[in-house]
Amino acid sequence: MKKLLILGAGIYQVPLIKTAKAMGIQTIVASIPGNYPGFELADKVYYENTTDYQKILEIAKEEGIDGIVTAGTDVAVITIGKVCDELGLKGLSAEAAECATDKLLMKQCYEKYGVRSAKFRRISFDDADYAKSIEDLTLPVMFKSVDSSGSRGITKVDDPSGFEAARQNVLENTRSGYFIVEEYVEGEEFGAQAFVQDGKLEFILPHGDYVFKGDTGVPVGHFAPYDLDSEVIEDARKQLAGAARAMQLDNCAINADFILKDGKTYVLELGGRSGATCLAELVSIYYGFDYYEKIIRVAIGEKVDFSECDKVDSTLSGTPNASHLLMSDKDGIIVSQTDGNAPDPDICEVQFDYKPGDSVHKFKVGPHRIGHVITKGKSLDDAVALLNKALENIHIEVE
Ligand SMILES: Nc1ncnc2c1ncn2[C@@H]1O[C@H](COP(=O)(O)OP(=O)(O)O)[C@@H](O)[C@H]1O
Ligand SMILES: [Mg+2]
Repeated sequence: MKKLLILGAGIYQVPLIKTAKAMGIQTIVASIPGNYPGFELADKVYYENTTDYQKILEIAKEEGIDGIVTAGTDVAVITIGKVCDELGLKGLSAEAAECATDKLLMKQCYEKYGVRSAKFRRISFDDADYAKSIEDLTLPVMFKSVDSSGSRGITKVDDPSGFEAARQNVLENTRSGYFIVEEYVEGEEFGAQAFVQDGKLEFILPHGDYVFKGDTGVPVGHFAPYDLDSEVIEDARKQLAGAARAMQLDNCAINADFILKDGKTYVLELGGRSGATCLAELVSIYYGFDYYEKIIRVAIGEKVDFSECDKVDSTLSGTPNASHLLMSDKDGIIVSQTDGNAPDPDICEVQFDYKPGDSVHKFKVGPHRIGHVITKGKSLDDAVALLNKALENIHIEVE
């Protein structure tokens, strides 16, 4: 029996655990303790911090794993890279993983290889004169920690009077001695899912994002296909391919964030794993295969056939689909939750993350999600109309 080490036991790793089990693979899950749904699904659990590379490596060796994988989060990507390098497993390299989880390294890669991305500066926390170093950037700018995710430590600043508070926000959300400031790119946010196998980009699927405007944009849903002029799509593909090459991402899923400004795609960042908020599901539904299964097969060392993607892309025959998170507009306890939707084959999934009695947060960032809905349709308009209807029929009462 093959053994797969899955890092994380949260909502975004649950489909990996379920799929691997259905494939007859033994699932070993490592995660910090907590109220995570993956624990009860896994064949074996290690309550360890997935960023503790030495511990995870020890487990990997002891178990004699065939592969190591995660989905939907960057937290453990470095550990995966290091374990893959150390044990000769299929997956992204430590070097690529470091680049994918450090916004400064990433931006430097993009600059070096001519990938279109916002102009930036590296700033040390001990540089009292830092405002000088960013004088030549055009306002507004984004202050960003290099090592966080989910919009933590990121602030948009419209004029210099906001610099100090933004710097303070970075400081509270980083372990690094420096951060980056980059120009704000005013435009429409979108993204793409992709996969590289043995140096080949197997597919690139651009998708539209529904963005919740909090302190920064937080993706709360997605849809595909993303209807753009073919030159724009081509440019997005070129930027993504260039960014992946620059970062040396290989044998991993890619989650890309872009901003479209004046018909040009700016790369915000690439992650070396599949996207959160129903993005792996978006790929599965669009191409008509189980994306989690492919991710797992590559991770355990199989050569995986992605030829469906070329067929679907060349005939524009992907299945349109859309998804949205369920969110609470206040902190509190779930009193009741009901899904009033009649069974419909085009409502692919309605998921509640919690049970009545569980406490939830007023939605500000991705981890505050309380569920999701995914729909498909003959056209994207159909899928989106059904998504809106399905969302209206879901009632979650929080007190
Ligand atoms: N240069 C930028 N211009 C415009 N918006 C940005 C820029 N950088 C970040 N953002 C906004 O902030 C969000 C989070 O930034 P990102 O760099 O993707 O960090 P995270 O790792 O937290 O997702 C983005 O999804 C986008 O909405
Ligand atoms: Mg991002």
